[in-house]
Amino acid sequence: MIQADLIIEGAAELVTLRGNSIRPRRGDEMRNLTIVRQGALAARRGKIVWVGPTADLLTSVRPMAFSRLIDAYGKTVLPGLVDPHTHLVFAGTRENEFRMRIQGKTYLEIAAAGGGINATVAATRKASKQELKAAARKSLDRMLALGTTTVEAKSGYGLDVETELKMLEVIGELNEEGPVTVIPTFMGAHEIPPELRQNPEAYVDLLITRMIPEVAARKLARFCDVFCETGVFSVEQSERICRAAADLGLEARVHADELTDLGGAAMAARINARTADHLLFANDDGIRQMAAAGVIAVLLPGTPYFLHMQRYARARDMIAAGVPVALATDFNPGSCMTESLPLILNLACTQMRMLPAEAITAATVNAAWAIGEEDCAGSLEVGKQADILVLDAPNHEHLCYHFGVNLVETVVKNGKVVVEGGHRVR
Ligand code: NIG
Ligand code: FE
Repeated sequence: MIQADLIIEGAAELVTLRGNSIRPRRGDEMRNLTIVRQGALAARRGKIVWVGPTADLLTSVRPMAFSRLIDAYGKTVLPGLVDPHTHLVFAGTRENEFRMRIQGKTYLEIAAAGGGINATVAATRKASKQELKAAARKSLDRMLALGTTTVEAKSGYGLDVETELKMLEVIGELNEEGPVTVIPTFMGAHEIPPELRQNPEAYVDLLITRMIPEVAARKLARFCDVFCETGVFSVEQSERICRAAADLGLEARVHADELTDLGGAAMAARINARTADHLLFANDDGIRQMAAAGVIAVLLPGTPYFLHMQRYARARDMIAAGVPVALATDFNPGSCMTESLPLILNLACTQMRMLPAEAITAATVNAAWAIGEEDCAGSLEVGKQADILVLDAPNHEHLCYHFGVNLVETVVKNGKVVVEGGHRVR
């Protein structure tokens, strides 16, 4: 008999996402969620210890004293969602730019006129760690209530040594305090800082000779990300930055081909980046090379939606080519102000024609792969963290189909109930 301190039983669908554990899901694998009908699950000390049909629960699992029983009859149980691309930490907001876009300005025009990333940089440089943390904490609570139990968070609104380190320290402390797992990415290469606008090479130099070595030495980040874009970092500069980071143990990720086709996807493949993100303008060659190199495409349909772009990444072509696809919010104050992964899943289906099952794979197991958390998160399998959602829905498709509302009723993080009846419990 397996002993358990948390048991969930009777789920109309228990969506396990069990499958190969050697690489992210691609092609038709993305449609297979490995659902247990009338499913049950048991956990002990924060880890999953048993998954199976409710009919077998009694003969397999023994509840310990004070164990918690969750009744999921008629409901859907899923792994906690994983958001593998966010700019969680920032000061100030940019609703003025939202209004300017409605009035016809574009994202790049607004940035050139002093708005954009550098507007948030100015506010973030002035903010204290406590202020940054308080704002990020609110967003993490919103994410958790919407089903996200693991999130990646980037620096990149400092663009100087002091503020970049301050952001990474905030990210580290948020992770320590929990309950949401927060995986840190260094993104000093998010924009050219205003003081070096006339000399971008000097900033690339600062990144490579000072910032990256310090971040690596202090183990403040797992990944290094670069905004490879016309007018920001060229393909050549991005490649140099990523290689310097990889040499010091920070795996590469790239904001690639978001606003123009610069060949960022092919570059990401060349340097064996873990992910290439955005990819609206990625060309056929870039998609082929990503598939060959096994680079994960992290697609962020909330961003073109929020920027009125009338164009989305070619998810169908990527899946057909064998590129593993993940989905993320890109949560940030400029190009995508939402903490909601369920909204992103809906957009992935309606705007990129991903099937609900593919979208769920992309925001769970493939998202975990995108941030190196594949051994801990992204599926309901024995040995993984007990990060679990109960949805007030009869099947998984509702998570994509029923949009603009929150179907998440219960959230379990590391075996503890942290959201109940849609409300945060402490
Ligand atoms: O992923 N592309 C660069 N970075 C963000 C935008 C950040 C901002 O506008 O503040 C993005 O879209
Ligand atoms: Fe981003």
